[in-house]
Amino acid sequence: MQVVTTIAALRVRLADERAIAFVPTMGNLHAGHLSLMGLAREHGSCVVASIFVNPLQFGPSEDFDRYPRTLEKDCARLQGLVDVVFAPSVDEVYPEQQEVFVELPAIADVLEGASRPGHFRGMATVVLKLFNMVQPQVVLFGKKDYQQLHIIRHMVAQLNLPVTSIGGDTIRDADGLALSSRNQYLSEAERIEAVVLYQTLQEIRQSLLQGERDIERLQLQAIERLTSRGWSVDYVEVRNRSDLLPPGKVEPDAPREWVVLAAARLGKTRLIDNLEV
Ligand code: PAF
Repeated sequence: MQVVTTIAALRVRLADERAIAFVPTMGNLHAGHLSLMGLAREHGSCVVASIFVNPLQFGPSEDFDRYPRTLEKDCARLQGLVDVVFAPSVDEVYPEQQEVFVELPAIADVLEGASRPGHFRGMATVVLKLFNMVQPQVVLFGKKDYQQLHIIRHMVAQLNLPVTSIGGDTIRDADGLALSSRNQYLSEAERIEAVVLYQTLQEIRQSLLQGERDIERLQLQAIERLTSRGWSVDYVEVRNRSDLLPPGKVEPDAPREWVVLAAARLGKTRLIDNLEV
């Protein structure tokens, strides 16, 4: 495994590779990331992981400064799983002020986009830059960031990017909490409570599977439950998997192609999760 920090060194290392599978990350790797690396191995002869905490996708009051940076530990975990770790500095990625951005459709302004204005613009812009640096054939992202994956797939299609995108399943702790670098912000008591977000999604999923179609009511009940337990809820929403829009009027036996998405804050920590139905 080789660790490179410059685009020039990356180009030299990858010059003769013809089947690159690329996993972009912000580091602080957990089992969710590592499972993506394993999946990447099935799709390329050369697996590249990037580790870069992208300032462009954090809002002014978000956790960019305190986001955990654990490069040495991350590299140790990637040993044997990937061929190249690309860990550029902020100056390497943004040698001058970024003035050209990926302009995204309205779907980037709802759900996560409503709570985090500009987040997806910054994310899509760095992802496109990283694609251009690595020039992979296959790219892999976790389904935990469901809307992110949706937006990347849309960008890949609409900008004719020559990559195949693959979504990896969310990896969960034994109690069901989705793995996330932000889980480590949780206090012991919050960590115990955190699983209620997943349980709430499961309950909605179960109700939908049992034929409940009053989606508005399901969403409201979920928000009330979380709020009464001390959560500050950004959204709990049932959406179409295909376009992430709210389902229209649905017949009881219409095909179920939905996803339930939620974001809520427990203390200072903002958690997101989703479940396909
Ligand atoms: O999901 C992430 O970790 C980040 O949004 C990504 C895709 C690496 C872009 O900075």
